[in-house]
Amino acid sequence: MARNININSEVRETTTSVRLTSAEKAEMEQNAKDLGFRSVSDYLRHLHSGQNKSKSNEKLIEDAIPKESDIDVFHETDKGKMYLGNSLDYLFNVAEENSVDLIMTSPPFGLVRKKTYGNEDADVYCDWFRPFAEGFKRVLKDEGSLVIDIGGAWKPGTPTRSLYHFDLLLMLCKEYGFYLCQEHYWWNPSKLPTPAEWVNIRRVRVKDAVNTVWWLSKTPFPKANNRKVLVPYSDSMRSLLLNGYTAKERPSGHVISDKFSKNNGGSVPPNLLAIANTESNGYYQDYCRKNGLDIHPARFPSQLPEYFIKYLTDPGDFVLDPFGGSCVTGKVAEDLDRKWACVELNSGFLQGAVSRFHTEADKSDIENEKDRKKNKVKPKEVKYEIWAPCSLPVDESEVKVVKDGGRTRPTPASKIETLIK
Ligand SMILES: C[S@@+](CC[C@H](N)C(=O)[O-])C[C@H]1O[C@@H](n2cnc3c(N)ncnc32)[C@H](O)[C@@H]1O
Repeated sequence: MARNININSEVRETTTSVRLTSAEKAEMEQNAKDLGFRSVSDYLRHLHSGQNKSKSNEKLIEDAIPKESDIDVFHETDKGKMYLGNSLDYLFNVAEENSVDLIMTSPPFGLVRKKTYGNEDADVYCDWFRPFAEGFKRVLKDEGSLVIDIGGAWKPGTPTRSLYHFDLLLMLCKEYGFYLCQEHYWWNPSKLPTPAEWVNIRRVRVKDAVNTVWWLSKTPFPKANNRKVLVPYSDSMRSLLLNGYTAKERPSGHVISDKFSKNNGGSVPPNLLAIANTESNGYYQDYCRKNGLDIHPARFPSQLPEYFIKYLTDPGDFVLDPFGGSCVTGKVAEDLDRKWACVELNSGFLQGAVSRFHTEADKSDIENEKDRKKNKVKPKEVKYEIWAPCSLPVDESEVKVVKDGGRTRPTPASKIETLIK
């Protein structure tokens, strides 16, 4: 009898027979081969361990959900509530099933940053997220959307990226049945060139300036209307609308009809959202500073939830942020006449967040108020420019690729001069 030794050096000395049709046997052998298994036995063991994993996932979820509710309303307005507590408690013990039109959130991702960012960490992140995924499915309406802003991360010590946010997306779609409606990219034009080691010193990577934003749903047809998020026409389109367009065939072979010159009130935006995250002097910050509260370190700019709330919901709909932070989502939802709930674990963040709902009278005692009022009048149309790649000429006889891929640090020019002398 052929013996099979597993990686733990445990001897496999029993066999079992499985009755199959010859087609089933051929199919299994083919599957095992296609997936790179040495034998059908290895393939079956792999399928069995998957079965165990889904059982252990069920246990993981069961253990994570609080059995008794321990969540408090921290602040309340006519339209919404800020909760202090664990959002799993909210998702399973407070919220009604199928009650939410939009979950707009940015989960913590510092969790992986402290570790090594390898595959194992992506697994840890996904396992941590599982109970939330289950809860989101529970509370989301069939026509609702789940929008997750999630930044990427670098693996420490090498100029390579973690895969955790892609693993999360795959898990949500493949295991929890969410649909990817469309990925968006939030481009922050004011992002500094980091990580400096790879970008500025070794020169082997470029500025990391986009966050991925996964827009997901329970069905392939969540409610949405891109007419609610149009952007101003480009200068060339404006002049075209003014002067008319003659229908003709483009070099690509597409025939552009004269309907092209119909003014629809604006252009459909691309899935690249240009939003500078530079606000450091608003009332929220002033209030936190004055009261010795921590300013939330990972806030998203209000235009991010504004875009998705307008695009995917109508006034009166219900918006939830389960990782509420400083309650930017709640404040935007309030201003846009939606009902809302934000859930946050850290009471310090909520103490600061309450200031977002202060009335003008509450605000009068904060220093800097005059400046703040001035700053509040923001231009309606904000436009950023980005250069097409390779817009600057380069002398390739002078500038060569870094042959070792950044493995070693370049010697500073000053040091070379000293060595020559
Ligand atoms: C990236 S921040 C969100 C920031 C927020 N979008 C803003 O603009 O202020 C993630 C937040 O989730 C909170 N959090 C983490 N786990 C949580 C949980 N189980 N329930 C509620 N909040 C949680 C963290 O304390 C953190 O404030």
